[in-house]
Amino acid sequence: MKVGIDLIHFATADYYLGLDTFAEEKQTELDKYIVGIGQEKMSIAPPDEDIVSLAAKAAAPILEKIDASQISAVLFATETSVDQSKSAGVFLHGLLELPSRCRVVEFKHACYAGAAALQMATTMVKANHKEKILVIAADIAKYDVDTSGEATQGCGAVAMLVSANPRIIEIESGSGYYTDDVMDFWRPNNRTTALVDGKYSTKVYLNSLKHAWQHFVEETGRKFEDIDYFCYHIPFTKMAEKAHKTLVKKVAASVTQEQFDKQTLPSQVYNRIVGNSYSASLFVGFISLLDNVKDNLAGKRVSFFSYGSGCVAEFFSGIIQPGYEKVLMTGDHLRQIEQRQPLSYQQYLDYYHNQETLPENIIFPQTNKGPYRLAGIDDHKRYYEKTT
Ligand code: HMG
Repeated sequence: MKVGIDLIHFATADYYLGLDTFAEEKQTELDKYIVGIGQEKMSIAPPDEDIVSLAAKAAAPILEKIDASQISAVLFATETSVDQSKSAGVFLHGLLELPSRCRVVEFKHACYAGAAALQMATTMVKANHKEKILVIAADIAKYDVDTSGEATQGCGAVAMLVSANPRIIEIESGSGYYTDDVMDFWRPNNRTTALVDGKYSTKVYLNSLKHAWQHFVEETGRKFEDIDYFCYHIPFTKMAEKAHKTLVKKVAASVTQEQFDKQTLPSQVYNRIVGNSYSASLFVGFISLLDNVKDNLAGKRVSFFSYGSGCVAEFFSGIIQPGYEKVLMTGDHLRQIEQRQPLSYQQYLDYYHNQETLPENIIFPQTNKGPYRLAGIDDHKRYYEKTT
């Protein structure tokens, strides 16, 4: 029985900061961002938007298309969680009125957790074909102002329904993985922003790719030539380009520039204008591929490289299913991206600092345009509401 992603949808915030505005403020050449790191815009969450409201916005359109009472588990991957004890998935479960006969748990390891949740869901469905599992990957990427990471912020959430007989992609058995205890990027419990050794993190990413790939080849027997499209974890799109160059060099493949672009560029279109969304980023890339390749992808093999700083990495693959195009939500993705409003640098800073130390009691004015938002915090308890 095939198991994999039956439906997939993503959400991002209603605002963005253009890297043109950013470059002007920092008095840096714009090409450093457009060409050097390959980014144009970063989605910015206002104070009443967090990973739960983003996740609800991502998941709701999926639940409208199925019998939501059949959801048997919610696996919520994030590294920007809202509580040290209660899982973000339980807030989501309440907001979306999911059935009580459901298990909910939060997954964490930097950007890797989304892939871990997907693999776990796939395994659960293989063990019991009746399971219908909602996998969420949601994050708000935030670094200190005036650090090298500031230009690589962003936010987003991806919701995936994992089931038997998937309509979009079958996740294939076998994968390659790699773990190494390193300090390239981390966020201690007392901080809202990540710390990063930027240049070092790019080296560890590429080294992890080589190891995970090697293991993938040994485990599955699949070769570079067997893969049609490559999705990488995308902290910024230039990283995916560096990753693919590294892989091409490792396997000594002869790839023309045209083939190289075809294999990688479609999965970067959305990430370039959304920014890093940590655990969601790889899957925003996959959605970008699905929405932007005009040829029929049915039967094509797509690879996924997930990298989470610290570090854990995994390389796996899947086969696109016939008829997948009928269940894509491309129009909604495009509408969301196009309707975002630009922020001035000062407006971005206001949102940025507003989220820094949330008081124990606060009612948020509505800035997030919905359909879900963080309404307030009362006696340290977070309250969400459906707005439309
Ligand atoms: P930086 O110091 O701001 O930039 O750091 P730079 O000076 O190295 O320039 C970047 C590139 O732009 C360079 O190209 C320059 O040559 C080029 P490269 O050497 O890399 O090929 N450049 C220009 N190109 C054209 N015209 C110009 C121009 N000027 C410069 N005028 C850095 C860049 C990535 C380090 C920084 O943005 C950063 O620290 N980002 C955050 C960390 C990060 O994203 N790391 C990626 C790997 S780790 C990861 O992916 C995991 C993560 O998602 C977290 C998680 O797992 O949870 C981050």
